[in-house]
Amino acid sequence: MTNPFEFGRELSDTEIVDRTDEVDLVVRALRGRERLFLIGPRRFGKTSILRAATERAEAAGAIVLRYNAEAYPSLTALAERIVADAAKRLTGPVQKAGKKIQEAFGTLRPQLTYSPLADTFSASLTAAASASEPALIADALSGLDALAATAGKPVAVVIDEFQRVVEDGGIKAEGEVRAAVQAHDHLGYVFAGSKTRMLAEMTGDESRPFYRLGARLFVGPVPRDDFRPALANGFRDAGLTISDEAVEAILDLAEDVPYNVQRLAHESWAEALAEGELVAPERVQATLDRLVSRDDPFYTQTWNGLSRTQKQALLAVAREGGTGLYAGDLLRAYNLASPSTMQTAIGALVKAGVAREEEHQGGIRVRLEDPFFAAWLRLFVAVP
Ligand SMILES: Nc1ncnc2c1ncn2[C@@H]1O[C@H](COP(=O)(O)OP(=O)(O)OP(=O)(O)O)[C@@H](O)[C@H]1O
Ligand SMILES: [Mg+2]
Repeated sequence: MTNPFEFGRELSDTEIVDRTDEVDLVVRALRGRERLFLIGPRRFGKTSILRAATERAEAAGAIVLRYNAEAYPSLTALAERIVADAAKRLTGPVQKAGKKIQEAFGTLRPQLTYSPLADTFSASLTAAASASEPALIADALSGLDALAATAGKPVAVVIDEFQRVVEDGGIKAEGEVRAAVQAHDHLGYVFAGSKTRMLAEMTGDESRPFYRLGARLFVGPVPRDDFRPALANGFRDAGLTISDEAVEAILDLAEDVPYNVQRLAHESWAEALAEGELVAPERVQATLDRLVSRDDPFYTQTWNGLSRTQKQALLAVAREGGTGLYAGDLLRAYNLASPSTMQTAIGALVKAGVAREEEHQGGIRVRLEDPFFAAWLRLFVAVP
């Protein structure tokens, strides 16, 4: 029997829980030549939304080129992939690909290679040595726009981990890419990113080139009303029983982060199958303890990489729920000299990808990027 709770890979349209509105909006952008920024914390399911929307838009006749900018060793490699994909999907018969690619991507001076056996293209950009990397991306997108004009169906580009495209080049890179994207009438664009703050600032700050270039869609947690039945069904379909309280315990301990929910549900399901008991909240907690004990080397390494004040701030975040962190009593309890010490420490934790900040009841709440870190801290770090 296969475990119904998958984690750590992008899920497809039929596997994801909820996300109907998000997927609809992305599909609309892809098919309607809109520009959309999909912004959300790590492991909330952005890539899965993109995949589901891509599958659906393509089923409806669109051509969607989807990239993860972090999966390429350089932006040049990404630009080369874009040109090669354009040759494959936007130029018609193979015989015409070379000429059409030269016309559309002339400034990049591409050398196209076709492998008949695998029916694949590869491209090498001979202009790469003299141009900046973001400029190569901008030119590659402009070439796509030119080909999209005569494609006879909607063409769209999805770039996941988009911050990677501009993070090294600063404002200048943002300006170059924006200028290109803004001039394109024939392409739909969806840019997604997990460094929430960075992408949010890039698109929401008037002084930045990407300000108001497109609509913004913020990805939040999957609503519990959708996750609860999905979790219960996964157990029930295998003849296992999980109590309502245990379902709630999974969502609580995972702090509603979809990846963590799926991971804890996966382990709980596997143990229930092996041991055949009713899954109760205590079992879920014990399962999580085993899970973080197994991951102990990873948590230990992260913990050891923090300064003393960062450790204290992390303990406070994990134990106090992430709000009211600047109150005098709390600072004293955690041995932190002043609110600004706390602030600096939290800033460092956010930068290190250990914590994140989210809007909460009109204020800011600090959360652990990996909610299971709290379980590890409870097990292995003494109360101050
Ligand atoms: N809607 C969902 N329903 C069920 N599980 C989900 C959902 N979205 C995400 N997940 C879980 O989270 C995991 C990670 O999803 P995904 O890779 O799409 O997230 P992401 O936001 O792109 O993450 P990253 O920030 O690491 O790129 C999935 O493998 C799955 O276990
Ligand atoms: Mg992702």
